[in-house]
Amino acid sequence: MVRSSSFLHNFSSIHRNLIDSFNSVFFLVPLTLAFITYLYILFYIYLTSKYFIFTHHYNPTNFLPKPSNQFVNTSSSLFHHQIIQSQPHNSSVVSSFHVSESIQKFTSLTSSSKDGEDHALQEAKELNGSKGNSVVSEEVFHDKDMFLEDYKEMNKSFKIYVYPHSKDEPYAHALLPVDFEPSGNYASESYFKKSLMQSHFITKDPSEANLFFLPFSISRLRHDPRVSVGGLQDFVRSYIYNISQKYPYWNRTSGTDHFYVACHSIGRSAMEKAEEVKFNAIQVVCSSSYFLSGYIAHKDASLPQIWPRQGDPPQVASIDRKKLAFFAGAINSPVRTKLLEVWKNDSEISVHFGRLPTPYSDELLGSKFCLHVKGFEVNTARIGDAIYYGCVPVIIANHYDLPFADILDWKSFSLVVPTLDIPLLKEILHEVSSDEYTTLQGNVLKVRRHFQWNLLPTNYDAFYMVIYELWLRRSSMRFSSNEFLDLDQNSKL
Ligand SMILES: *[C@@H]1O[C@H](CO)[C@@H](O)[C@H](O)[C@H]1NC(C)=O
Ligand SMILES: *[C@@H]1O[C@H](CO)[C@@H](O)[C@H](O)[C@H]1NC(C)=O
Ligand SMILES: *[C@@H]1O[C@H](CO)[C@@H](O)[C@H](O)[C@H]1NC(C)=O
Ligand SMILES: *[C@@H]1O[C@H](CO)[C@@H](O)[C@H](O)[C@H]1NC(C)=O
Ligand SMILES: *[C@@H]1O[C@H](CO)[C@@H](O)[C@H](O)[C@H]1NC(C)=O
Ligand SMILES: *[C@@H]1O[C@H](CO)[C@@H](O)[C@H](O)[C@H]1NC(C)=O
Ligand SMILES: *[C@@H]1O[C@H](CO)[C@@H](O)[C@H](O)[C@H]1NC(C)=O
Repeated sequence: MVRSSSFLHNFSSIHRNLIDSFNSVFFLVPLTLAFITYLYILFYIYLTSKYFIFTHHYNPTNFLPKPSNQFVNTSSSLFHHQIIQSQPHNSSVVSSFHVSESIQKFTSLTSSSKDGEDHALQEAKELNGSKGNSVVSEEVFHDKDMFLEDYKEMNKSFKIYVYPHSKDEPYAHALLPVDFEPSGNYASESYFKKSLMQSHFITKDPSEANLFFLPFSISRLRHDPRVSVGGLQDFVRSYIYNISQKYPYWNRTSGTDHFYVACHSIGRSAMEKAEEVKFNAIQVVCSSSYFLSGYIAHKDASLPQIWPRQGDPPQVASIDRKKLAFFAGAINSPVRTKLLEVWKNDSEISVHFGRLPTPYSDELLGSKFCLHVKGFEVNTARIGDAIYYGCVPVIIANHYDLPFADILDWKSFSLVVPTLDIPLLKEILHEVSSDEYTTLQGNVLKVRRHFQWNLLPTNYDAFYMVIYELWLRRSSMRFSSNEFLDLDQNSKL
């Protein structure tokens, strides 16, 4: 009895202790979590903004390109990371331009690991010497040699199948390329399709196609009274249903080797009723924000929004660019409101909301830096405008997955400034030395052709660059689970 009562006593005190500790755990866990989250947020702000540390050790050379090791660190694909890490050799020199190739090599690897070693050595050799070790690189490409080599390969072998449509179909006007010269804000979409249809990448034979193009035009459907904005989702769903009934290709991969191209941001919500398009297909879109759920960085690709201009742009030397920075646009976002608030009466940073008293082109030609500031979306045609007029773009649009970022080193021809740093804008711009500015501006002129559409596409122009982005994404789309297994095994060898 004594025993059992002391047992009971013990038991109840254990029980009480348990309750006590439960109570303290009950409060401790959420408190700890809250604290960790708080630290994490501070850390994030510290990493992304110069706002709190500017006065201590702000280093403007951060803007300028580093030797291309950095590329690997910022390498843009999960696949890329995976492959790069699994390379048994000098991984720092393996560039993503060979990644799709490496994937093929690894997946098709039936031979011994020695071959793999040879490949890696070969690649290391090929890459050697292509990059300088100076602090300020002149190079606009992450790896030019690699790009040029892979581009050549793409030009030879890339094949795209386009679902056929005829002129007498009810939606022909949105499915066939336009028969006029595309213009305006969303021209990129029409230009791409027009260029593609007359290019040598087209194949009539689906069995040799790397990718399948869904030719619907979001911007044309948007203006079609039978569809309009409200009917886009049903249209896309119906289109996918129709091709998946009529052809075997969609079902084969659930759409992963399919792509569409759209520049208007409405395209994103147009996929709401066709989730396979959103989650599997390659979306080549202008509104490419990491922050939005409709866009999946690395699977999808950023399409540059370009207001088309033909012919050669005027040349203005940097010395004749008297104004420090320029922006014009509507106030349609908190970021722009902030910009206006801070810089509206500034003598060096000129911001205009409303009608410009001077021609837009004069402003772009007369300014050192041209601001691209997030509006409704991260993208606008302003980056293309700035580049055309030889003005160094300053990108103030957090989470923008910049066009061609896996080919071009944006830090060599633009500044990317976090929204939080708007009050520091002038200091940031003044910190760029004149030598650095000369490098940046020279590089703007170098990348100009990549941001230009041509009625007859020319090598390395916007059309070819977009094609190249698709090429980079092609083979990662054809994985079956078996191939993944093979890949794993090979990388362990
Ligand atoms: C890239 O990452 C490696 C190791 O992860 C590091 O040693 C190197 O300094 C990084 N390079 C840059 C430019 O950040
Ligand atoms: C790896 O690359 C670095 C510099 O890029 C070089 O110093 C080193 O020798 C290379 N290692 C091998 C195993 O090739
Ligand atoms: C890379 O280049 C350096 C000199 O630029 C040379 O000494 C080295 O042998 C080269 N490495 C390979 C793998 O070609
Ligand atoms: C790509 O192919 C087209 C058509 O065959 C050709 O005109 C163009 O010069 C090629 N580009 C390169 C870089 O080889
Ligand atoms: C799909 O096919 C049906 C029946 O042929 C047709 O009525 C419909 O317009 C098609 N949908 C699209 C988006 O073309
Ligand atoms: C594709 O899959 C859908 C749904 O499972 C099916 O209805 C359709 O018949 C399939 N298409 C072909 C060409 O087999
Ligand atoms: C900016 O200038 C306008 C008129 O030129 C003046 O009314 C306004 O107070 C000024 N704002 C600031 C913040 O200096």
